[in-house]
Amino acid sequence: MSYDVAAVRKRFPALAEGTAYFDGPGGTQVPDAVIEAITAPLRDGVSNRATVTAAERRAEDVVHAARSAMADLLGAEPGGVVFGRSMTQLTYDFARTIAKQWSPGDEIVLSSLDHDANFRPWVQAAESSGVRVRVAEFTVGTGVLPTEAVTGLLGPRTRLVAVTGASNLLGSRPDIPAITAAARESGALSYVDGVHLTPHARIDLRALGADFYACSPYKFLGPHLGALAADPALLETLRPDKLLPASDAVPERFEFGTLPYELLAGTTAAVDFLSGLDSTATGERRTRLLASMTALGAHEDALARRLEDGLRAQGVRCHGDPDRDRTPTVLFEVDGVPAERVYTELAGRGVNAPSGSFYAYEPARRLGLGEQGAVRAGIAPYTDESDVDRLLDGIAALRS
Ligand SMILES: Cc1ncc(COP(=O)(O)O)c(C=O)c1O
Repeated sequence: MSYDVAAVRKRFPALAEGTAYFDGPGGTQVPDAVIEAITAPLRDGVSNRATVTAAERRAEDVVHAARSAMADLLGAEPGGVVFGRSMTQLTYDFARTIAKQWSPGDEIVLSSLDHDANFRPWVQAAESSGVRVRVAEFTVGTGVLPTEAVTGLLGPRTRLVAVTGASNLLGSRPDIPAITAAARESGALSYVDGVHLTPHARIDLRALGADFYACSPYKFLGPHLGALAADPALLETLRPDKLLPASDAVPERFEFGTLPYELLAGTTAAVDFLSGLDSTATGERRTRLLASMTALGAHEDALARRLEDGLRAQGVRCHGDPDRDRTPTVLFEVDGVPAERVYTELAGRGVNAPSGSFYAYEPARRLGLGEQGAVRAGIAPYTDESDVDRLLDGIAALRS
């Protein structure tokens, strides 16, 4: 296993400006290969998907390549990968479609740890269908969602469990295999928000047991769009509202209008780039991805530990339990200094670590974060020790 952060950094043109980017949980920077891949179809000529002209075939190839890439990344089947504008849009679409199968008196289970994109679409779909919403509460002190908090709410009328793979605010990771197994046992579908987990972990749809898994390539070095993976056989059972002339095939049935071919090409390049993060890895792309995500995890966890230890050593209040299984995301508050001031002062030093609640509306309310929220620093593949030290120096300067 080998991770060469200096070599990785050289591939990111945006880093030339000298900024230390800790806003990866909001969206990462992209490597040169992704930028090149996005421009290639536009430069070479691309038309609507078909097989007669070279430009049509290019569009066709780009779509198939992107489905295969996402399938390799998630341990899914290419025919079960759906693309959309964003995870939020996909979740609204799937909530409306899945809700067609609900009846008044049915129940769904959501979690208070979730980003609003995996909460509000379900609440609103439930309201329209006379379905009861039950909310599993995370433990405020630790940021952990106990499995029993979810399983304790399951019952014979539960139709769906929606839960995050990792909190975009606190980094905490619910036990997804245990939750999805319990959901399945009680006859409910599971919808997992993988937006914050996917950039940091080895994902295996089957091992997670998720019926639906949604994520966003712009959080893992790719362009701005969303992707969802599910078993194609399950997708066959769903009937979204769609245009009459549009394909009824799976997964096209769920993709409304013309796909963004250039962004799909960028997505494939992002997955390929991730698969090369462990430069010693060999074999199929899926195998290289698994090795690379392990190497990336070790790199990111070491930096997150350095950051959190450094912050705690300065008396900064870090949310969440440092000893729990978490993504490399640190949410913190500096006593006596408003979060927005920390954000702007760090920005003045070329350190991007925004403040807010980051659409984690329910968790932020339970944590009592207030209007300004807190400061969030996320480690990304291109983060290095000097970035972390610059952030720590910025905090020290604020307090002196
Ligand atoms: C955990 C989580 N879920 C969902 C979303 C929404 O993703 P998108 O912007 O693709 O709709 C985000 C975005 O920040 C997120 O962090």
